[in-house]
Amino acid sequence: MSLFWSWYVTLLTLGTIAALVWLLFATRKGQRNDSTDETVGHAFDGIEEYDNPLPKWWFMLFVATVIFALGYLVLYPGLGNWKGILPGYQYLDGQAKVAFETGEQGWTGVHQWEKEVARAEAQYGPLFAKYAAMPIEEVAQDEQALRMGGRLFASNCAVCHGSDARGAYGFPNLTDDEWLWGGEPETIKATIMGGRQAAMPAWLDVIGEEGIRNVTGYVRSLSGLENPEGIQVDMAKGQEIFAANCAVCHGAEGKGTQAMGAPNLTDRVWLYGSSFGQVQQTLRYGRNGHMPAQEQHLGNDKVHLLAAYVYSLSRQPENE
Ligand code: HEC
Ligand code: HEC
Repeated sequence: MSLFWSWYVTLLTLGTIAALVWLLFATRKGQRNDSTDETVGHAFDGIEEYDNPLPKWWFMLFVATVIFALGYLVLYPGLGNWKGILPGYQYLDGQAKVAFETGEQGWTGVHQWEKEVARAEAQYGPLFAKYAAMPIEEVAQDEQALRMGGRLFASNCAVCHGSDARGAYGFPNLTDDEWLWGGEPETIKATIMGGRQAAMPAWLDVIGEEGIRNVTGYVRSLSGLENPEGIQVDMAKGQEIFAANCAVCHGAEGKGTQAMGAPNLTDRVWLYGSSFGQVQQTLRYGRNGHMPAQEQHLGNDKVHLLAAYVYSLSRQPENE
């Protein structure tokens, strides 16, 4: 900031505070000291105002805000080129340095944050590195690693998969033993690192509304679901359509292909709902679930911990 603007800001700020202090004391002068029942003499819609002084505690509150403001301006940078008397920190070569040593600006939120990051790196960096060097199955046995993984999950994954990782409509449950892309430890890690893009094509233009109805009935029967009464389904035609169009991805028996993220259609797990209407909707317009890649965002070591955490969730006794 140039010298002119520095003084401009400083004088404007201090001048305003001085003017407020003057106002505070000037309006207090000449006022009575005790309360009376007298009113100022106006009535607003029948409401009258007592002619009493500002209560003392209230007045002191104003004084306190002025003292607070002055203290703040002395401690922190902001008043023109004033750097404040609190030391700032700068992150240099992995170490927090007091900013005065480095000739940097004084305390700022950014410096504070950098200092905390440096401290966390120093504390957790070696831990992350230790776990990253261990096989995922082994990390999944380590209680401290799972606690760290759980925290990472809560802040990065729970928005979509839920805080209990049980998923929701369109977001897979990660605690069961059903996998779109595969549940091997390294596969889970690859999913989180690189993300996944599912591509289930839209079929309405290809097989028409009648074809959709027939293959919907057939697909639901694969997992033992009865079709609602009153809906005409030609199972043989549905099976034909399935063999011709769907088996490439979902397999001849409908058991899915993890390499493509094509789900098993014979189990009771449905990402987009199992009702006749919901399955019809899936088939008419297709589905394109997207799992965002985390490699850039979290890096290998944190993803390694997350993979172990997710792997451990699917290894609950209830899945055995
Ligand atoms: C190009 C490969 C491909 C073809 C061909 C394909 N699918 Fe899919 N299908 C997928 C993928 C991938 C998904 C997962 C979509 C997602 O996760 O968003 C999927 C999802 C589904 C679902 C949703 C399952 C659930 O859990 O909600 C159904 C039902 C389905 N497919 C049925 C069919 C039928 C019937 C056909 C043939 C008419 C077909 N698919 C053809 C790849 C394919
Ligand atoms: C923006 C929402 C979103 C976020 C955030 C997200 N995911 Fe996902 N994730 C998805 C969706 C959607 C799918 C399913 C993709 C598909 O349809 O094939 C998925 C799939 C997965 C799978 C594959 C499941 C299977 O059955 O193969 C794993 C594992 C996974 N996510 C883990 C994570 C982890 C760990 C995080 C946190 C780092 C995370 N996800 C963050 C949306 C998200």
